[in-house]
Amino acid sequence: MHHTVAHPLIAAELTRLRDRECPSFEFRERVRRVASLMTPAVTADLELQTVACQTPLEITSGSEVARPVVLVPVLRAGLGFLDGFLDLIPNATVAHIGLARNEETLLPESYYENIPDGIDEAEILLLDPMLATGGSAAAAVTRLRESGAVRLRFACLVAAPEGIASFEDIHPDVPIFTAAIDRCLNEHGYILPGLGDAGDRLFGTI
Ligand code: PRP
Ligand code: URA
Repeated sequence: MHHTVAHPLIAAELTRLRDRECPSFEFRERVRRVASLMTPAVTADLELQTVACQTPLEITSGSEVARPVVLVPVLRAGLGFLDGFLDLIPNATVAHIGLARNEETLLPESYYENIPDGIDEAEILLLDPMLATGGSAAAAVTRLRESGAVRLRFACLVAAPEGIASFEDIHPDVPIFTAAIDRCLNEHGYILPGLGDAGDRLFGTI
């Protein structure tokens, strides 16, 4: 299942992100802002539990998110997408998965992992701005599952139809939330029209 998170403010931010003249400092700020704008839609169905709440006047009942939330940015580009989610879910734990796509095979290669214990109890939000072939996101979900994760969702900025199809084939039960579904991949596995290499643009390594 995939959802396009549509909002006029997101559409305007994305247009500026696609602009090749948008410098790194501005790119980072806008990616963070889109992440925050997406957070309500991505988390809309989180389960709540009822809790007692003592106001200054009396006891009432309220709600809290039933399970801990773990945010998992896929390094590097996912780091740029993380802070906007953390702004709205400040008590989330952050796990890290480091993957780099091999430029020839387009397959993800793992170089770092820090996945805490207890993720079997948690709501996991996997974060990566780009879903191109889908290989990186699918590999990250596989690793999280091997580590015990059960409740997973994936958020990205821009997805290619090929990546959505491949990811859904491998992990049909993990919902994808994206700000845009673009046209296709080019022969180098880049999304068209896309926004280029998100990691390089975030960190100024172009
Ligand atoms: C980019 C992007 C995703 C991956 C998407 O990362 O951030 O992780 O490519 O491509 P895929 O869907 O075809 O796997 P990259 O490997 O370039 O590393 P970086 O974030 O360090 O730039
Ligand atoms: N990774 C990116 O950063 N951009 C793409 O278009 C494809 C993969």
